Amino acid sequence: MRRLGILLSGRGSNFLAIHGHIAAGRLDAEIAGVVSDQPDAPGLARARELGLPAFCVERAGRTKSEFEDAIARVLEAQAVELVCLAGFMRVLGPGFIRRFPQRILNIHPSLLPAFPGLHAQRQALAHGVRFSGCTVHFVDEGVDSGPIVAQAVVPVRDDDTEETLAARILVEEHRLYAEAIAKILAGRWFLDGRRLLEKK
Ligand code: GAR
Repeated sequence: MRRLGILLSGRGSNFLAIHGHIAAGRLDAEIAGVVSDQPDAPGLARARELGLPAFCVERAGRTKSEFEDAIARVLEAQAVELVCLAGFMRVLGPGFIRRFPQRILNIHPSLLPAFPGLHAQRQALAHGVRFSGCTVHFVDEGVDSGPIVAQAVVPVRDDDTEETLAARILVEEHRLYAEAIAKILAGRWFLDGRRLLEKK
């Protein structure tokens, strides 16, 4: 597995971090396609500027299954082996997930299973946790609920705002995602229930 597909909806800093790790020779993979559901996503524009295969698949005018089928066909046409959600703000349905079994990763800005869904950093502050962080996990049919691949811990400071906490978590996201992708590509792992364990 070497060919990555990136799904994004916005800024695309995680996509750019992955691209940077590949360009610097720290991640042995290639980005075979970037797909955005938002035509004006900055991440999509950056993909085009970088000369990467970039596609916009809009939800409008399609049913959910037509929308997901259109994305899956792009990824299959690009022979993508591992799908990386990077700020893709839609929940993928079972039809899509079954087409890429154990081949879809997501990054989420909390220590899952705490604070799934939207505004994870805001949820963490409101709850009063002393530590938050980020999680890379396999995508299953729930919301941010699949088996965990990697996590990084970020302490919460008394003077943190949603923005300052999000910024410190993002630094860890940019490191963690590439590490998690490398681990999955290396293939020396298996799932024991929900637990990702190393093959001996
Ligand atoms: C990242 O913080 C990512 O963890 C989060 O959206 C941001 C996207 O930033 N994803 C989620 O909250 C998914 N539930 P980016 O577009 O700059 O990579």
